[in-house]
Amino acid sequence: MIEHVPVLLEEIVTQLELAGKPEFIVDATLGLGGYAERFLSRWNSCRVLGIDRDPMALQQAIVRLSKEKEEGRFIASEGNFRQIGQILDETGWEKPDSIVFDLGVSNLQLALSERGFSFQEEGPLDMRMGRDGRTAADLLNSLPQEELRRLFRDYGEEPHAGAIAKGIVAYRQHKGSIRTTVELVNVIRGTLPAPLQRKMNRHPARRVFQALRIAVNDEMEALSEGLNQAGRLVKETGCVVVVSYHSLEDKIVKHTFNDWESAGMGRRTPRKAIQPSPEEVERNYKSRSAMMRVFRMAGFEAGRKR
Ligand SMILES: C[S@@+](CC[C@H](N)C(=O)[O-])C[C@H]1O[C@@H](n2cnc3c(N)ncnc32)[C@H](O)[C@@H]1O
Repeated sequence: MIEHVPVLLEEIVTQLELAGKPEFIVDATLGLGGYAERFLSRWNSCRVLGIDRDPMALQQAIVRLSKEKEEGRFIASEGNFRQIGQILDETGWEKPDSIVFDLGVSNLQLALSERGFSFQEEGPLDMRMGRDGRTAADLLNSLPQEELRRLFRDYGEEPHAGAIAKGIVAYRQHKGSIRTTVELVNVIRGTLPAPLQRKMNRHPARRVFQALRIAVNDEMEALSEGLNQAGRLVKETGCVVVVSYHSLEDKIVKHTFNDWESAGMGRRTPRKAIQPSPEEVERNYKSRSAMMRVFRMAGFEAGRKR
C-alpha cells in the first residue's frame, strides 16, 4: 500500500481546535485519508465528509476508515471540490465547523508511473486526477506553440517557456506526437543549453510538469470556485484552512481571503502563512514548499467561548 505523509497536520489540528471541539469537518481533498484519520481519532464525536476526485485515493481512504464509516462518522464522496455545496447537500449533514483543503497531488498519484505525474518515472502522459477530461498528451499534441508557451509561463512560471514550446512543436512535426513522460523530459532537455541545465538546482522538467498538471485538472478555476463556496458553507463560528504548495495557489488563497475580509466575513489569522518546521521538512522533504493559510469566520471568537 502506498503511503502519504500528511503535511502540517498538527498545525491544522491546533487551528481547528481553537474554536472548541469540532463536530463536523469537510476534508475537501481526502487523498489517502491522513488528515481525516487524525480528525476522527482526535475528536471522538466528530464527523468527517471526505471529498476527492481520484477514485483510487478514495478507495484507499475508505478501507483505512472503514470502522468510522460503519459508525456513521465518515462519508467519502467522489467528486470535485468545485461542487462542494452540492456534495454537502447530498449528505444531509448540517453546516461544517471547518473546511480543509490540502492541495496538489498525493504520493499515490506521484508513485504510480501509469498516472504520468512524475518526471522521474516512465509512464503515459496522463496526469488526470479524476476519471475524465483531456490528458497531458492531448494538450501537448494539439495546442499551438503560442498556447503551449503561455501555459508553461502562466502555470509553471517557466522562464524558458518559449524555447520549450518551440522544441515541442518541432518534435511533433518530426515524430508525430509525444506520448510518454520520459519522451517529454528528453524534449525539454534537448531545448535547454547544457550549461544552463547544470546551473539549475531543480529538475529542468519540473515547471512544465506542474503547468501541464494544473491545466489538465483545471486546478486554478477549481480552487477559486471551491474556496468561494467554502466561505458560504462553513459555520459562522468556523474556519477555512488551505495548505498550498506553490505561489500560484497561495496567491488565489490570499486574494480570496482578503476579499472575504473586505466583505466583513471574518479575518485571515494569522497574517502570515504557516510553514512546516525544519524538523518536519527533514522528516518529510515533500513538505518543504507547503504554506497554510487560515480564515476565521466572523463568529469564530464567540465560538471560542463555548
Ligand atoms: C495532497 S493530497 C491530500 C492528502 C491528504 N491530506 C492526506 O493526508 O492523505 C491532495 C488530494 O486532493 C485531490 N484533489 C486535488 N484537486 C481536487 C479537486 N478539485 N477536487 C477534489 N479533489 C481534489 C487529489 O486527487 C489528491 O488526492
